[in-house]
Amino acid sequence: MTGLSWFLVGITLPFSLFVCFKVVQEYERAVIFRLGRLVSGGAKGPGIFFILPCMDSYVCVDLRTRTYDVPPQEVLTKDSVTVSVDAVVYYRVSNATISVANVANAHHSTKLLAQTTLRNVMGTRPLHEILSEREAISNTMQTSLDEATEDWGIKVERVEIKDVRLPVQLQRAMAAEAEATREARAKVIAAEGEQKASRALREASEVISDSPAALQLRYLQVSNEH
Ligand SMILES: *[C@@H]1O[C@H](CO)[C@@H](O)[C@H](O)[C@H]1NC(C)=O
Repeated sequence: MTGLSWFLVGITLPFSLFVCFKVVQEYERAVIFRLGRLVSGGAKGPGIFFILPCMDSYVCVDLRTRTYDVPPQEVLTKDSVTVSVDAVVYYRVSNATISVANVANAHHSTKLLAQTTLRNVMGTRPLHEILSEREAISNTMQTSLDEATEDWGIKVERVEIKDVRLPVQLQRAMAAEAEATREARAKVIAAEGEQKASRALREASEVISDSPAALQLRYLQVSNEH
């Protein structure tokens, strides 16, 4: 080493003995505890920050959005049908300090809460609403999840209900019901056709009975056709 390097090391040695530089990525923050207490000024980062060896400990928090695939939940709807529902939840850490200081494991807690919220929200609604109002249910879920996770520094951005699976027996019953409805409608249409046809026949017979010559003409016409 040159003389200058030694000189620089000599100058910075006292300083570098006491501080230690760390780097976090653009999407990360470091929550620092100095002798067990939160360092004021909030989480550090992105970029370079320093800690005091032996006195400081720090936790790195990732702020990027995460997705959680809620596994299929067996839910009893308000009208006592068991359905299997799964969803996707998008969430991120909105306040790194709180997410470290207030809850032991923010991600795990959010996931568990997402499962129970899915069950609770579904349990308050009848089946036809679950099938037809997914958008509204997703929004309700997002709002109630977000309110609950606010204290953990977690922001729930989106909830999407992926799939609502009905029990096989109910599927069969619904298919049978739909078919019966279709058949009934077909019968009504056929009956209406008959009604119209008979009305037309009656009018025709009235016309014919009014003038006997009409009947003769009709005979002639029919025999002409064959
Ligand atoms: C995080 O929460 C703490 C405590 O409520 C607050 O002092 C701090 O300003 C918040 N940080 C951000 C980035 O909102």
